Formats: sequence, structure tokens, C-alpha cells
Amino acid sequence: MSRLVVVSNRVATPTESKGSSGGLAVGVFGALKDMGGVWFGWSGDTVTEGASHRPPHIVQEGNVTFATVDLSRRDYDQYYKGFSNGTLWPVFHYRNDLAHFDRHEYAGYRRVNAWLARQLLPLLKPDDVIWVHDYHLIPFAEELRLAGVKNRIGYFLHIPFPAPQVILNVPVHEELLKSLSCYDVVGFQTDEDEQAFQDYIVRHAHGVAKGRDVQAYGRKLRTGVYRIGVFPDEIADQAARYAKRKEVRELRTSVENRKLVMSVDRLDYSKGIVERFKAFEQLLESSPDLQNQVSLVQIAPPTRSDVATYQQIRRTLEYEAGRINGRFSGLNYTPIRYLNRRYDRWVLMSLFRLAQVGFVTPLRDGMNLVAKEYVAAQDPDDPGVLVLSRFAGAAAELDAALIVNPHDIAGMAEALIRGLKMPLDERRERHQSMLAALRTNDLGVWRDTFLRDLKASA
Ligand code: G6P
Repeated sequence: MSRLVVVSNRVATPTESKGSSGGLAVGVFGALKDMGGVWFGWSGDTVTEGASHRPPHIVQEGNVTFATVDLSRRDYDQYYKGFSNGTLWPVFHYRNDLAHFDRHEYAGYRRVNAWLARQLLPLLKPDDVIWVHDYHLIPFAEELRLAGVKNRIGYFLHIPFPAPQVILNVPVHEELLKSLSCYDVVGFQTDEDEQAFQDYIVRHAHGVAKGRDVQAYGRKLRTGVYRIGVFPDEIADQAARYAKRKEVRELRTSVENRKLVMSVDRLDYSKGIVERFKAFEQLLESSPDLQNQVSLVQIAPPTRSDVATYQQIRRTLEYEAGRINGRFSGLNYTPIRYLNRRYDRWVLMSLFRLAQVGFVTPLRDGMNLVAKEYVAAQDPDDPGVLVLSRFAGAAAELDAALIVNPHDIAGMAEALIRGLKMPLDERRERHQSMLAALRTNDLGVWRDTFLRDLKASA
């Protein structure tokens, strides 16, 4: 039987893979345990130039090998901070205004991909199925192919794939798309993403797309839509089980009889947090009966803090939270509780269960698992309401949420009010419908369908 080799920029630790971190780690680890194999990627550490480029650190956990490499500061600056997060991330999230392009960074991105591919070679067996993840590693398969690797190689993009007109802004778009066509299967989160990729191939690469079959750059590949999900029953169990944890008790006591709107995001400009704060402000302004009655808890652990655009969004949010709180706080009331820290995953699920509204308003998002986690964490007898941006991939499945446009501040405020006042019957009905969607398309389905298609590819 073939083994599975997973390649991603970040590799979960063996402990994280067992449940304490995000769903993806758990889903991928499940497949690795079933098939045996390797999880390969960056260790998360940067080291001096001399100490980098050493062979992978290996940790063995049953039949799964965790293999990670360190990056030099220069590699990190060019590959991770520079091209991945300074060019690809903003452009793929439709934020050309926040993107920059630097040839040296792009050269570093290619160099690190080539080096990573070389590091993986000794760990590979001829029958292995290789599954590469996300925007950091677009050229990875091309590098493996150049080294003569004939294995099946699949790619899954966790973030949106932008419309051709948008990706044309990246000066090296042709090279990137050519690299992408070295995979056997390229998977996307939504129909729009798949369509955008195929449109590019047809309009700008003289390729052909028929159904899921694509021919371009002298290669044949398949595309597919694989909506990443969660394991809803496990989340529901853990959310109930963690209700007695200190953090959960603290929040419950501190909100007293007030209502709670809850949001959790990495501190990222794609998440629409500024718009969200303004919508909450509008709610307080337009509904004096809700002043002092409802709080927004925004948990936003900082991320990529050495990228300038992330420093800027952090300053903006600090300003906005301070401004709105200055305006509406009472001696015993803080409208927005803004926390720049990380919480244990199961504690978060339990906090979600306390909140009457889950408020998820990205300007663009590949899927947004927080939306799915919020739904899964609810008490089915008395569930909260999800207010969800139409620009999250999750909106395609969670159409029983209150769908909003994050650019429409007044519309979001209205949806919040509607959510806070929604009768129990309607809440239950919407929750059941969303839960059914989560069950049909859980994390196992995502992983198994992708791997089935990859194994079936030529
Ligand atoms: C997004 C990306 C992932 C990335 C994660 C955390 O979800 O799609 O690939 O790992 O953000 O970002 P970071 O830069 O901290 O790895």
C-alpha cells in the first residue's frame, strides 16, 4: 500500500496532531496514521546561515515520521515574510494595494522550494503519494519533477485563488501557474476558486479546460473542489466538556446577564476586523436598548508581526477598539474586549458555546474554519446565531447563517441585532441545517476525497 507524504510550510508537532491544535493538523495526521508516511516542512525556527541547510530533524511517532528543517534568516525573509506573505497572500486575498513585489524575494522563494524538495528526496519511496499544501509551496512539484520524481503529487490551496485579472498583477504569474500545472491534482476550497484557475489557464496560458480536466504547458492535470471541514461531533463534545475550565467560568461570570458576540481570528487584514468593530459600534449607536447589554469579545493572536502591513492593521485595531470603548464603556461595562492572545483550541470551542452570536466577517477567506467551529460548538437545544461574510468560502455551505457583506457596516449591525433577538425556533432550525452541512462534508470527507482523486490520477 502507498504511504502518504504531506508537505506544508508548517508542520504540527506530534502532540498537536492529536487534537490540541487546528483541525487541519488532526485531519492530515489521521490520514498519515492510516497510510503511514512522512510529514515534511519548516520547523518554524530560523538559524544562522551556517547552521541552516542541515538535514531534517526527525521525530518518529508510530508509522509517521515528522521531518522538519530550519531556515536561515535570509530564507525566512525572502521566502516566508517576503514573497509568500508580502506578495502572494495579499494578492490572493484581493489586496493588491497591500502587496509588494521584489525579484530577490521571489528568487528566495524559488530557492527555498528547490532546497526543500532536495531535502525530501532521500525520504521518498517510489510508491508514495505526495500531498503539498498552500501558497508557500507552489513550485514544489516542479522541483521534484526536475529531480526525476515520478510519484503522484497533489496540491491543495487553502486560500482563495483570485480572478485572472488580479493574479496578473504578480509579475511572475506565468512561472507560478506553470509550476502549478506540474501537480497531478490541484484542489481548491470553492467552485469560484477552481473556475478562476481554469479561466487563467484558458485565457492566459493557451490551455484547455474540460470539466475537471486541464491541459496546459504540455501537461495534463485535474482540478477539484474539496471543501475543508471539521469533525463537528468531536467539537460539540469538547465544547461541553471544557465548560468548567477557568477561562470559561471567568468569561461567564464577567458578562453577567449580558449577551455575547464572539470572534476569533489571526490578527490579519483579510479578516475584516476593523469593519466588524465599526458594525458593533453602529449597533450600539442605533440600538440604545442594547447599550450595556451586549459585548463583543474579539480574540486575535498576532501573526506575521514582522510584516509591515500586519503592524499597520494592529495599530488600526488598537485605535478603533480604544475609540469605540471610550465612547460606549461604563464603569462596569466594556463593549469590545480585544485580546491579542492565543487560547487552547478546546477552550475556544467552549467559549463559542457561551456566545449568542458568532461574528465572522472576512473580506476574503479560503474557507474559514472558525465559522464551522462556532456552529459545531453550539448547544443544539439553545444554539447561537452565525453572522457570516459572503466572502468566506464557508458561506457556500452555511447558507443558513445570516449572510452579510463586510463592506456594508449598517447591514452587519442589522444582522447582529437580528441574531441577538432571533427566536429559539428559528435559531434551532438554522443550526440544524448548518450542522447537517458540516456532517455531510466533514474533515474526513475532505481528506479522503482528495486522496482518492490523487490516487486515481494518471
Ligand atoms: C493560513 C494559511 C496557512 C498558515 C496559517 C497560519 O491559514 O493558509 O498556510 O499556516 O494561515 O499562518 P502562519 O504564517 O503563522 O503560518
